[in-house]
Amino acid sequence: MIFDLKDLKTAEKQYYLQHVVAPRPVCFASTIDKKGNVNLSPFSFFNLFSSNPPVVIFSPSRRVRDNTIKHTLENVMEVPEVVINIVTYEMVHQVSLASCEYPKELNEFAKAGFTPELATLIKPPMVKESKVKMECKVIEVKPLGNGGGAGNLVICEVLRMHIDDSLLDENKKMDQRKIHHIARLGGDWYCKVDATNLFRVTKPNTELGIGIDALPVSIRKSKILRGSNLAQLASVNELPVIEPSFEDAHLKNIIQYYSVNPDEMEKELHVYAKKLLDEGKVKEAWQVLLALN
Ligand SMILES: Cc1cc2nc3c(=O)[nH]c(=O)nc-3n(C[C@H](O)[C@H](O)[C@H](O)COP(=O)(O)O)c2cc1C
Repeated sequence: MIFDLKDLKTAEKQYYLQHVVAPRPVCFASTIDKKGNVNLSPFSFFNLFSSNPPVVIFSPSRRVRDNTIKHTLENVMEVPEVVINIVTYEMVHQVSLASCEYPKELNEFAKAGFTPELATLIKPPMVKESKVKMECKVIEVKPLGNGGGAGNLVICEVLRMHIDDSLLDENKKMDQRKIHHIARLGGDWYCKVDATNLFRVTKPNTELGIGIDALPVSIRKSKILRGSNLAQLASVNELPVIEPSFEDAHLKNIIQYYSVNPDEMEKELHVYAKKLLDEGKVKEAWQVLLALN
């Protein structure tokens, strides 16, 4: 199916885009108007765009229903300051409640049961329950259109971060497994990040990876190894060689058992290498594959 965005109704564009551009982190924005009315609303059109200067952007859209603009946008145009509170799993139902379209004078802190805490550099309050809060100055508001559904980039410079001590180790480093971020997908779907669904991909960028085109043909054309397995193998800086000290009982068994049938041996070695790669054991997988030569 091919969709031309120009042929879709606004709600349909929103539907497909939000299901595929996902998961999106959620910024819980606290703002005030010039009379001092506080607003607290979530926005998943949100991300980090620069570290120096430190810039994050979120986007309150014009309502598709009636093309009106959201209180958060009105507020940052009156008082260009915002606290961006990072949303974690424990907060998600309250955050969703805060997204109700309450009248402007009603304070979502009270409606959603959050505690306001004074910020240190700006006027809007922080959400005490949030484990990470960023005090930001709004440096620009950039409308992306005039129709319903049009986004408005609220470009924010992060001035100060408050990170809960429980997320930091003794060297002030963060443990990614401890912030249980949530993220928004399409419709009512959310996902949750925790130790059970996080994984690591080692950066190959200190030195150049050899690349998939430099892998031996028998590996590159493997019927067992997948693209991601090949990429793991191709992330080494030079083609590995057999290490005589490498000992592996299962490898020994394969070589003994299939010595009369090289095709079957290749298949079995690839199956074993794949298992090792799926466990992140790239060096060992290379040794298994080299055993074929
Ligand atoms: C998790 C979540 C993410 C949301 N993301 C956005 C968004 O990126 N842009 C937007 O315009 N509305 C978004 N909404 C809806 C707004 O939060 C909602 O319209 C809110 O009432 C706006 O409040 P305000 O008028 O007080 O600023 C989101 C709602 C939820 C629950």
